[in-house]
This record gives sequence, structure tokens and C-alpha cells, in this order.
Amino acid sequence: MEFKTLPVVQGDYQLRDYDETVAAFSWADAEKQFSWHESGKVNIAHEAVDRHAESYRKNKVALYYKDGNRKEAYTYYQMKRMTNKSANVLRNHSTLERGDRLFIFMPRSPELYFSLIGTLKLGVIVGPLFEAFMEGAIFDRLSDSEAKAIITTPELVDRIPVDKLPHLKTIFLIGENIVEDGMIVDFNKHMKNASHSFQVEWMDKEDPTLLHYTSGSTGKPKGVLHVQEAMVQQLQTTRWVLDLNDEDIFWCTADPGWVTGTAYGIFGPMLAGGTMLVVGGRFSTEGWYEAIEEYGVTVWYSAPTAFRMLMGAGEGPMKNNDLSSLRHILSVGEPLNPEVIRWGMDAFKQRIHDTWWMTETGAQTICNFGCLPIKPGSMGKPVPGIEAVIVDDQGNILPPNQMGNLAIKKGWPAMMRQIWNNPEKYDSYFVNGEWYVSGDSAYMDEDGYFFFQGRVDDVIMTSGERVGPFEVESKLLEHPAVVEAGVIGKPDPVRGEIIKAFVALHEGYEPTDELKEEIRQFVKKGLAAHSAPREIEFKDSLPKTRSGKIMRRVLKAWELDLPAGDLSTMEV
Ligand code: PRX
Repeated sequence: MEFKTLPVVQGDYQLRDYDETVAAFSWADAEKQFSWHESGKVNIAHEAVDRHAESYRKNKVALYYKDGNRKEAYTYYQMKRMTNKSANVLRNHSTLERGDRLFIFMPRSPELYFSLIGTLKLGVIVGPLFEAFMEGAIFDRLSDSEAKAIITTPELVDRIPVDKLPHLKTIFLIGENIVEDGMIVDFNKHMKNASHSFQVEWMDKEDPTLLHYTSGSTGKPKGVLHVQEAMVQQLQTTRWVLDLNDEDIFWCTADPGWVTGTAYGIFGPMLAGGTMLVVGGRFSTEGWYEAIEEYGVTVWYSAPTAFRMLMGAGEGPMKNNDLSSLRHILSVGEPLNPEVIRWGMDAFKQRIHDTWWMTETGAQTICNFGCLPIKPGSMGKPVPGIEAVIVDDQGNILPPNQMGNLAIKKGWPAMMRQIWNNPEKYDSYFVNGEWYVSGDSAYMDEDGYFFFQGRVDDVIMTSGERVGPFEVESKLLEHPAVVEAGVIGKPDPVRGEIIKAFVALHEGYEPTDELKEEIRQFVKKGLAAHSAPREIEFKDSLPKTRSGKIMRRVLKAWELDLPAGDLSTMEV
């Protein structure tokens, strides 16, 4: 199939050399591709679906879905109809109004995508929930946001503590044999007869769209609120960082319960009129390689943990599939270890591109992209339109090569606009009202490349030396026996802190004292004496978030015999 390219981020905005691109860029121009340029109003669902359904992309596949034997494909034309039908079902069977909160709590399926986009057509705020959440996590999110409705499945509905949620009025169930009552609505039954026409609610660009709950270092998860305007940056980065073109088949492996799964698992690719693949079910090495071959995936966005799992499975399973369609691979969510990059070079004959951003930033901010030469170990440079610096704790900008807080100049389009119900928390992110402080420590080199060092709260001070746990973990992972590693600072009366490593071993390695010493020496030799863990403890596996980050906070709690805090985002 051949497509003309829409006049999106073209002309003056083509990627040239980095400095020229940055100098020529303005968000105001990037915004011109959306309807508010003409009408002053917008709706992300219209921009992601309807406008393509009304263009030459009408019959282009927007969504391929695969889960076991369920394989479906929907064009932009069909997506428009299905999302319109969903919007009608939601409107006709609830009291939802613009600005109300609706949660979606179900595994990935085409219905999840129809109903999520349909909800946005109503101007209702969507709160995506990961399917592994249990009752406490659901309660925290629905009660904090006073959610009025939820879309879920018969298998998951029992986890919703309805009696404790007085604002919850409607439960849309997607499944078989559903008995309706005052609260329960059979979604699929009403979909059958729903009209496929719907007039989207026209919104202002500052109107909210998504509410993603995320864990901080303390307290309950907080509701990060995003607005319509995020679409500008989501599209821009999809073009420039994901390098998505009309001919591509794009696969983002993240679940929409997390921000990567909405920003780049739905909106970025669809705003760009792209074709995306969604694979249901859990990770499986064979299943993933098969999906790449079966759909001819060209652009692939995943996370270091997944890459490490594939790496751990070795070359065997790889040989069963032709992976040569892949032309651009990207990573997000945690440090991309040199070990993984090396494996990627071997396995795919290309470099995996690191991208750095957060739930709070709403879209990619510091990346290895298009026209930027890559520096190994660096997350890249700020994407055009983003200004990033390293600041000290008072907000003073630090010179190159000094470690400090990674901060971004307030005001980028995808920036969160609120922490739900918690304005003080929101304000606390900004120093001098100007810089958003990420909570990550990093440094910038003299060429403007950023290097991630760790979360600010995880930095280890040992004998007066500052050690980034990431560096130690990366080194540990290079040892052939080590499959997972998490490093924390353990209080020590003499040294302030000592480095303690929790390590999971590859199958076939015995957890002996000799091996501990060997690993210690390996780090000592590879990094520095002060970076070598004084203590190593073997574990069968380490606690991780769903997005794959080792939860050092939990390791620390184990170590100090303290409560581990909110574990709702921990992989189970
Ligand atoms: O510590 C950084 C890490 O993930 C945090 C944000 O997590 P979350 O809001 O769950 O969003 C994940 C995906 C958008 C950051 O504060 N992080 C994200 N990307 C990277 C990273 N750490 C190192 N390298 C990255 N590329």
C-alpha cells in the first residue's frame, strides 16, 4: 500500500542537523496540524482517529490485534465507527459528563481501545488501570478521583470495592452472559445496536484527557493529570524519535495501564496515522519473536527488562523467526545497560535507542533520535522544544559534568497540569516556579548529552564518594552469572553507607561464597574499589514495577526491616 505523507512536521520542521532543527523549531508551528489551528477547539480522539478516517488513510489499518488465536485488524474507518459506537453506549447508559472520571480496567483487547477513545470523545477523563491491580490499588485510585464509572470484565469486576465507592454509579462489563442491574451495563450488547455516528465534544487544549496514577517515593500513588495539548508533543516525538512513517508497522509493548502504553501505545502512532500492533497476553520470548515476523514489525518500542529477558533466552528462539523487518528499536523506563545495547547490536544488527521521560512529562523529553549521533551510555539530548538542565537542590543551574537534579523548563505541551486533589504536591515539583525537577540525578556533558545516574533518593554516599547504583548494577549484569541486580546504600557507622547488592543468578549457577567474592572482584576490577558491593545477597528474583524497574525502595525496606510502602505497581 502506498500513501502520500500528510503535511505533518514537514517543510521547515524536517530533521536536519540537531542544532539547526532545534533552532528552527517552535511548538506554535507544530500545533498547526490540529483542528484548533482553525476552530480554536480540539479533541484528541478526533485527531487520532476521525481525521484519518476522513482522509486518504481511511482504509489503512490503524490497529492489528493478536492474542493467541484472536487476530483482528481495524482500519481508521472502522476505528471511527467502533469508537463512535462506544461513545454512544457510554453516553446512553450512564450519567457521565465532560470532566467526569471513568476508569478502564481490563486486559488489552480491541474493546479496550474502542472504549478508551470513545470515552475521550465524550470529553470524559480516562483513568487507565493495569489488569494486575488488586482491590486496594483500585480503591485508592477510584476514591481519590471520585470516579463515576468503570469499564471492566466479569473476571475482574470482583476486585472493585463498590460499597466503599459512593461516587461510582456505573460499571460497564465487557464479556459474556452479563446480567444487567441498576449499576451493571452489558457493553457489548449495547454496542450491537448503537449508532455509529457521534459528534465529538469539542474541547479546549487545556482540558484534561488522562489521569495516570503513579507511585512516588513516599505515600499513596498520585494522580497525574494530562491535557489535550499533550498531543502536539506525542505526535512530534512519534515522527522524530520513533521515526514513524506511513509504511511502518509499529509495536509498543507497554500496556495502556502505564503512560507509555497510552502516549505511544495509542496516541502517538494514531495521531501520526500509523499502523500499530497490539499483542495481548503476557510476555513470552517465542510469542514476541513470532509477532515481529508475522506482522513485519519495523519500529519496536520496549523496555530494558524485556530486552534482558529476551537476551537471557539466548539465540535459540531467535533463530526460529525472521526478524529482519525491524529497522528501528527503542527503549524506555529504566537505564539501558551497555550490556543490552551490545546484545542488541549482535541480535538485531542495530543499536537500541534510549528515550527518557516520565509519567509526569507525558511524552518523550530526552532521547536518542533522528539526527543525533549517539553517545554510548547517554539517554541523548532534549528533543526540540524541550529545555533540560542539571540543577542543585536550590535550583541553581550546574555546569557540565556535575551530577545534580535533572530538571526541565516548565511549559512543554505534554507536561502534567495537576496532581489530582493535591496542589501542594504539584507545586513541590517545581523549583523557583520555573524548573520541573524530575527526581532523577544525572549529569550533562560538555556536548549537551545527558547521562542518567539514578533516582535522587537512591544515590549512595560511601566513604565520601558518590556512587550511582545504576553504574554498579550495569556492571553486575555484565557478569555471566547475574540475571538481575539491585543495589542500595546500607547505613554503616563508619562509611556512612556501604553498597549492598541483591543479585539473582542465571540458572545453573550455585549461590556460593566463592561466587560472591568473584562478583565483587568483577565489579571492583570493572569500576572502582569503592563501587564494589561490600555485601551481596542472592535472591531468586528481585521486586520490580510493571514497567520493569527494580524497586530499590523494597530492597531497602527488606534490608532495614521496614514496611515496603505501596506495592500496587509491583509485578506479581
Ligand atoms: O527514573 C526514571 C526512569 O523512570 C522514571 C519514570 O518512571 P515512569 O513515570 O514510570 O515512566 C516510565 C516511562 C515513561 C524516571 O524518573 N526512566 C525512564 N526512562 C529512563 C529512565 N531511567 C533511565 N533511563 C531511561 N531512559
